[in-house]
Amino acid sequence: MRLQDKVALITGAGSGIGRATAEAFAREGAKVVILDINADAGKDVADAIERAGGTVEFQHADASNPEDLERVVTFTTDTFGRLDILHNNHVWFESGRIGDLSLDGFRKSLDVSLIAYWYAIKLALKPMLAQGKGSIINTASVSGVAADYGIGAYNVLKAGVVNLSRITGIEYARKGIRCNAVCPGPIATPPIGQLHEQAPGIWEDIRDAIPMGRYGKPEEIAAAVLFLASDEAGFITGSHLVADGGLWAHSGMPPIGGLGPDF
Ligand SMILES: NC(=O)c1ccc[n+]([C@@H]2O[C@H](COP(=O)([O-])OP(=O)(O)OC[C@H]3O[C@@H](n4cnc5c(N)ncnc54)[C@H](O)[C@@H]3O)[C@@H](O)[C@H]2O)c1
Repeated sequence: MRLQDKVALITGAGSGIGRATAEAFAREGAKVVILDINADAGKDVADAIERAGGTVEFQHADASNPEDLERVVTFTTDTFGRLDILHNNHVWFESGRIGDLSLDGFRKSLDVSLIAYWYAIKLALKPMLAQGKGSIINTASVSGVAADYGIGAYNVLKAGVVNLSRITGIEYARKGIRCNAVCPGPIATPPIGQLHEQAPGIWEDIRDAIPMGRYGKPEEIAAAVLFLASDEAGFITGSHLVADGGLWAHSGMPPIGGLGPDF
């Protein structure tokens, strides 16, 4: 097993990518602490992992609350004696054009989805430094390496997550601690499923913009996170792994001479 006896903490593990990662980590032998603000969702994931024979603890917590994060990191090391893997993954952000975002909404977006990642890293570094080993994976996005219309706060905070991963990676590289970002493209998780309610046809438009012509599966991102978490990625730090069906590789230009993705 690829994570035998490792101890992992995942934020936002009650749904989507975080849930798939928690299940993948547990299958590979890790003891997993799942943190989510949604108690029902978190308990549901913990039950599913237990039923599959995994070792798991659910912690109901708000990752943007420093006291909650402190409590969960202490719970993890008290319960399992160490912390090998941190996967920062939860998100909240205000949508809207840059000129229309509210001051409170922009601040809260950065607070919940960027500053909380940094604070969780700061807390996790203590046990990882004592162990001389650790792996941190932050969920960024293709939206952290390019811009999208209408979600400017998200673009800014995810770009911050990419560079937070770089700086953490280089500063702790000689201490045995690796830090990387994973940059998913559009993945079939509940928020994407709700896009229809905001704008009819947008779900199809996004799908068609992806060179592979389909949404990614949460399990496909979990596989990338699992790789970065494992010792197989031993020489990879400060990096960002794009997993997006080819979306980021496309310049955005319409097909020239009628030569589109279908042939
Ligand atoms: N789905 C996509 O297309 C996509 C693409 C690129 C990046 N991402 C990123 O992947 C990550 C997971 O997204 P997802 O699509 O799986 O979302 P999701 O909504 O399915 O899951 C997110 C989970 O985070 C929890 N959460 C939210 N705020 C929290 C908080 N303050 N404290 C604790 N838990 C909190 C939610 O309750 C939920 O269970 C996010 O960082 C997102 O930006 C997603």
